[in-house]
Amino acid sequence: MIDNKTIVLTGASSGIGFEVLKLLAAGKGNRILAVARHVDNIKYFADNVTAFSCDISTQEGVDRVFAKAEELFGKIDLFYANAGFPYYEEFNYTDWDRVDAMFRTNTISPIYTYAKYIQHLNGRPGILAYTVSAIGEMAMPGYAIYSSSKFALNGFQQAIRLEKPDNLQITCLYPIATDTNFFKVANAVEFEKPFPVQKPSVVARKMVEGIESGKERVSPSGLFGLSKVLMGVVPPVRTVYWKMETAKLERFKKKLAVYHDRLQGNVRAAVDKGREVGETLIEKERELRRDLDEKASKVRDDIKDKFHEL
Ligand SMILES: NC(=O)c1ccc[n+]([C@@H]2O[C@H](COP(=O)([O-])OP(=O)(O)OC[C@H]3O[C@@H](n4cnc5c(N)ncnc54)[C@H](OP(=O)(O)O)[C@@H]3O)[C@@H](O)[C@H]2O)c1
Repeated sequence: MIDNKTIVLTGASSGIGFEVLKLLAAGKGNRILAVARHVDNIKYFADNVTAFSCDISTQEGVDRVFAKAEELFGKIDLFYANAGFPYYEEFNYTDWDRVDAMFRTNTISPIYTYAKYIQHLNGRPGILAYTVSAIGEMAMPGYAIYSSSKFALNGFQQAIRLEKPDNLQITCLYPIATDTNFFKVANAVEFEKPFPVQKPSVVARKMVEGIESGKERVSPSGLFGLSKVLMGVVPPVRTVYWKMETAKLERFKKKLAVYHDRLQGNVRAAVDKGREVGETLIEKERELRRDLDEKASKVRDDIKDKFHEL
């Protein structure tokens, strides 16, 4: 159990981060700054947890997190950069903003956090934890940008270990598919998750144990380690696995095409309906005008008649 620590945890509102938050909050004497953009569900989580709404994908965001933690705790014993998000897609577009957002959140922010944390520690002992991903070691079809953002983070942690000061422990988590909001964020249209899928509570427990025992890497699924070895020794196994995942992407593309057709059909139907309603309103307005004109001319005739009678 991790006890008597001052802790920053990003991505604390959901999934793996939320399960880690539960474990850390239960530790004796821990004080935690729990960060996410939306913190309504963790605002009143526990007395030793301060929820902090912040977007960590920007330099200013990370600076704000450090400033808040320093104001609350003075020193940070453990900084867990867990926040991240994927996008499941066929990569065939030129949307700079989406690529930029994914790299800023998944890669650049944790790298910047390392530099800030080293300065913050100033020689004191500290622990930096990262949630990388199994996909950061083995690419998958449908996750080209996400995979590359996690490969980059994995490369960074490997390199920086060789030059980091001794006072810093770095522990990295490599989850396989885990049943969190991850797959809802990844696309509005449902798709097949990679196989197999783990529970976030199991992943979180293994990570907290790994941090506590000073591990460099935590691979919560034994199967991933085994399959990596197997795929290294018998490469066709990897080819078969990738073929299965590529077939999933193909099925997803077909589903997406149906979804877009339906969406376009709905838009067309809404436009037709709007046009129909518009035409009915114009006709109604014409009728009302005719009616008013008739009534006005009748009133004029009546006034004329009355005038002649006088
Ligand atoms: N689930 C999987 O299969 C899987 C597998 C391998 C690795 N991972 C990694 O595990 C980590 C946690 O993901 P999860 O599976 O637990 O997904 P999740 O349930 O969607 O949780 C993501 C968390 O990150 C926060 N977050 C996202 N962008 C943020 C930003 N710009 N600023 C601050 N907070 C942000 C989210 O809160 P807000 O949206 O409110 O900000 C949420 O608390 C991620 O790094 C992910 O890449 C997940």
